[in-house]
Amino acid sequence: MEVLESSAALADRIRELKASGKIIGFVPTMGALHEGHISLVEEAGMQSDVVVVSIFVNPTQFNNPDDLKRYPRDLQKDLDLLKPTPCELVFAPTVKDIYPEPDNRFFDFGLIDKVMEGFYRPGHFNGVAQVVSRLFDLVKPDKAFFGLKDFQQLAVINDMVRQLKYDIEIVPCAIIREPDGLAMSSRNQLLTAAQRKNAPIIAQTLFDSCNFAKSNSINGTVEFVTQSINSAPELEVEYFEIVDGDTLQSVQNWEESDYIVGCIAVFAGEIRLIDNVIYKKNMS
Ligand code: PAF
Repeated sequence: MEVLESSAALADRIRELKASGKIIGFVPTMGALHEGHISLVEEAGMQSDVVVVSIFVNPTQFNNPDDLKRYPRDLQKDLDLLKPTPCELVFAPTVKDIYPEPDNRFFDFGLIDKVMEGFYRPGHFNGVAQVVSRLFDLVKPDKAFFGLKDFQQLAVINDMVRQLKYDIEIVPCAIIREPDGLAMSSRNQLLTAAQRKNAPIIAQTLFDSCNFAKSNSINGTVEFVTQSINSAPELEVEYFEIVDGDTLQSVQNWEESDYIVGCIAVFAGEIRLIDNVIYKKNMS
């Protein structure tokens, strides 16, 4: 496994790979890798000839400086985790390499980034789009793999790919969970023991809500999820919205769309966790 730290070195390797006709699968990450990331790398390994993983904590997507400061970083541990996987090339650039000049691009994602994460973390998705497009320009992947835990991020990336006309297949990958249901996240390691003990209530409530939803309204289901989670110690729902899975806009009743998803953000103390559940997905 090769580790490259400069975009110039990466450009040389990518040129060689492209010249030999290799299909490049790309997994962008911010490090602090866990089984969720590894599952993306495994999937990329099955669908491409060469897997490139980037490790870069992108400052432009953090709207909260404390969150950026405490984001876990341990490159050696990440490399050890990647060693037994199909990852062949790790790109771990500096901020200067990714942003030689400040990136002043402003993306317009319509209503997709005005709700949920976009509403509570203003500027977050603009930063995600900046870094992912920059990484796409450098890595030139044929396919890129993203986890469905960041459901709204996937919608934003798909829209960015459409807007910037990238010839890249975006592959959504299933949420990977701990045995107790908690969605895997780099932020889980920041939880105290008590918060970690309570955090699985988020996923368990979402799963329970699928049953509850069968005989209750959207509003009733929102209330059920919010109250159940808020009544657990140390957990506080920031938002729970039941939305159309394509437009990400709230739906008022279960018949309004064929694709309905519940998206949630919860504070466990200072640590913000997100998760989601699909209520309905009928292929038309
Ligand atoms: O999902 C993430 O880890 C980040 O948002 C991403 C896509 C690597 C961009 O920094």
